[in-house]
Amino acid sequence: MRLRQANPNDAIELAKLYDLVWSAEVSALGERLAHERAAKADEVRRWIKADPYYVIEEEHKLVAVMGCEERLGTIHLVHLVVHPEYRRRGYAVLLMKKVESLARERGAVKLWFDTAPGLGAARKLYESLGFVQCGYLHKHYWGTDVVLYEKVL
Ligand SMILES: CC(C)(COP(=O)(O)OP(=O)(O)OC[C@H]1O[C@@H](n2cnc3c(N)ncnc32)[C@H](O)[C@@H]1OP(=O)(O)O)[C@@H](O)C(=O)NCCC(=O)NCCS
Repeated sequence: MRLRQANPNDAIELAKLYDLVWSAEVSALGERLAHERAAKADEVRRWIKADPYYVIEEEHKLVAVMGCEERLGTIHLVHLVVHPEYRRRGYAVLLMKKVESLARERGAVKLWFDTAPGLGAARKLYESLGFVQCGYLHKHYWGTDVVLYEKVL
């Protein structure tokens, strides 16, 4: 297992990973949001060029990814997914902790995340790491509600 920063050459494989994960979450996200979350490789490449993304590799296969958008002293954690066959091994925690330590090094004041109410595993994960629910947006992304979590550093 290796955790490293993503580079634009990872975009095609990451787009496949997003497609695999989000196509299984239609009931939590709704069809349109699940479809748009599963970004095409060009879009993933743009994300990686604009902001730091971290990946976990297992035997040269990318099995987990998360990005972080640093804006005005806050870090917005985005696009976290773990391949279904590699879950409950602590990979999401490793990515979150990596970004939290970077955030502290850079003097950021807060980490935050938005998620869908039906993504129960994600919500458990954030709560286990000390994130606190701080808001709720009704019918937000294509009609899907959004829960906001924050962790003040
Ligand atoms: C949410 C997700 C990223 C978690 O990834 P993971 O690598 O399996 O998570 P970890 O192994 O690091 O789990 C850490 C903790 O989170 C909680 N957790 C994770 N998955 C859980 C589940 N299915 N049910 C209950 N708690 C869960 C547990 O507290 C777990 O600790 P434990 O295994 O010691 O009990 C993964 O399930 C996933 O990709 N889900 C679909 C996409 C998604 O929801 N992304 C987040 C978008 S906001």
